[in-house]
Amino acid sequence: MQATAQAQPNIALVKYWGKRDIGHNLPAVGSISITLDAPHTRTTVSFSDRLLQDEFLLNGKHEASMLGRVSTCLDTLRALSGSSLKARVESENDFPTGAGLASSASGFAALVRAGAAALELDLDIQQLADLARRGSGSAARSLLGGFVELSLPSPGSESTPVSSLCKADEWPLSVAIAITSSAAKSVGSTEGMERSRLTSAYYPAWVDSQEADLARARQAIAKRDFQALAEVSEYSCLKMHGLAMASEPGMMYFNGATVECLHQVRALRAQGVPVFFTIDAGPQVKAVCLPEALEQVSRALAEIPGVQKIIPCGLGDGSRLVQG
Ligand code: DP6
Repeated sequence: MQATAQAQPNIALVKYWGKRDIGHNLPAVGSISITLDAPHTRTTVSFSDRLLQDEFLLNGKHEASMLGRVSTCLDTLRALSGSSLKARVESENDFPTGAGLASSASGFAALVRAGAAALELDLDIQQLADLARRGSGSAARSLLGGFVELSLPSPGSESTPVSSLCKADEWPLSVAIAITSSAAKSVGSTEGMERSRLTSAYYPAWVDSQEADLARARQAIAKRDFQALAEVSEYSCLKMHGLAMASEPGMMYFNGATVECLHQVRALRAQGVPVFFTIDAGPQVKAVCLPEALEQVSRALAEIPGVQKIIPCGLGDGSRLVQG
């Protein structure tokens, strides 16, 4: 009744922002991401008749804020297996907490893998992805490696199809993550996207224009066209942040160093360096580049005042069972 799974975070290139159905955590838009090869989240799920309630520990400490979402995922697994046993979930991240890197995607991708195995449920990737999405929308994408698309459900369905667009080794990009702050984010993604849906005049345009961006990104990936992927990724990123800023009250996830990094990345690309930026609901900048440019990009970003640290990584595989 115990299993351990590992997963890595993913970074969206065409962003998910907005929900069609909060109760089922159904996204309002499809998204395309890359799964990283580091950092790792390792999660052990142990079901036991000695537990009176579910427990969730992150890096050895009880984490009450995420327990509700963890139990929602566990409830679905329990319903599928006919079990009523409570579980202890222990999750470890091999990167410093407070580094400002979202770990919910890798966390839920590892949780559903381990939870299903602990209950001896034989679920396919799509079933696992639907479960992970209930925990966190972006988590469904960390079930697969490389370039991944999370699509909208077909009418009448609650399943969000997850598919591989290109394996990690078929187009091995690199990513330099520039850490510009270790403070907790001001407004979390779940709250932020609801605020945009409810208050921003830009929201309908955001939803309506997503399919065109997804099509551009799919084509750029199929052709391994770095420049085309750079253009659509930066466009989607700035469009999402424009939407966040044009909500009420507006959300500004950038700090000064974030903005300096964006200018630096664009200056490098203008000089012919294959690199582009993307930013999620926080101030860290992810500079995606061809592997031969990683050192130069990392050095250039490290020089910017306010950049505390550069974490270099590559593309990796989806979540997997390591024991159980
Ligand atoms: C900006 O997946 O964290 O990173 O479904 O509410 O848990 P919930 O949201 P979450 O949102 C991710 C938002 C984003 C863009 C993305 O990863 O696509």
